[in-house]
Amino acid sequence: MRRGLKTPIQVLSLLVSTRSSLGFVINRQIATVSINNSKRRMSSEVRENESFGETDQSWRSLLEVSIAKSRKIRGSNYVQIATTNENNEPRCRTVVFRGFFNNLPENHPMTLNGGYCDGKPILMKMCTDLRSKKVEEVAYQPISEMVWWFPKTSEQYRVRGPLSLVGDDNDDRVLQIARKELWGNLGDPSRESFLDAATTKIGSGGRDDEGKVVPPPANFLLMLLDPTYVDYLRLTGAQYRQIDQRRQSQHGGDDNDDDDKSQPYWSSKEVDP
Ligand SMILES: Cc1cc2nc3c(=O)[nH]c(=O)nc-3n(C[C@H](O)[C@H](O)[C@H](O)COP(=O)(O)O)c2cc1C
Repeated sequence: MRRGLKTPIQVLSLLVSTRSSLGFVINRQIATVSINNSKRRMSSEVRENESFGETDQSWRSLLEVSIAKSRKIRGSNYVQIATTNENNEPRCRTVVFRGFFNNLPENHPMTLNGGYCDGKPILMKMCTDLRSKKVEEVAYQPISEMVWWFPKTSEQYRVRGPLSLVGDDNDDRVLQIARKELWGNLGDPSRESFLDAATTKIGSGGRDDEGKVVPPPANFLLMLLDPTYVDYLRLTGAQYRQIDQRRQSQHGGDDNDDDDKSQPYWSSKEVDP
């Protein structure tokens, strides 16, 4: 089922404007197919994806809507995240999704790897404790999978990608600021759960005598999921499933797109359930 396919010219202009604003290619497959229709020569990697182009919204745009529709439902920001332990066994647990990394600079390494889809930030913020098992599991195998179920809209997202843990020893200034911001934004009970009961007054909420939030302890970690593969399933109406994948473009031939070499972009295709 093809929905809302735009004309080649419309799509091409969409692609160009996305490039100029963010400095990298966000190559929705609808664009690939349409550009191909206009007989533009494609690299082999892009040609391989010609069957894509059957979706008109990226996972990130779909997720934006799902989050908005469920915002008022308690627990709608609880997600399950699975890691792999040293025996190659899966371990899964619930954590709180704490928003996307909104202000990642364009020249930050995590932006250059990906960072955005449809012009929207994709790095997913969570937090955890250095003492938890998942820390050694992430060190063993950083690739993890998050499952997010939205009961109101009957949608499931399975988001795969490497997890990064940012502790107080991380000297990336941008990530350290984000870690401290997240600490400050936690509710008092959550903040308190990271503090050593022996040295913290119960009920202090991680605040000093003047009510100011204390600095994050060393065991407080910012946890970032950097999505590379998203499997979206909607159960309402006609069941619909879509796979989105982050790829590196390898434009070549007579494309004259030298600037785009090795740029990340997202492709999207509808699949049979
Ligand atoms: C509703 C709910 C929210 C939770 N939120 C978090 C969280 O944001 N971060 C976290 O590390 N653990 C959270 N937990 C606890 C984890 O599910 C898990 O028990 C803990 O992280 C230890 O897991 P691990 O030993 O596999 O690392 C939450 C649990 C529940 C039930």
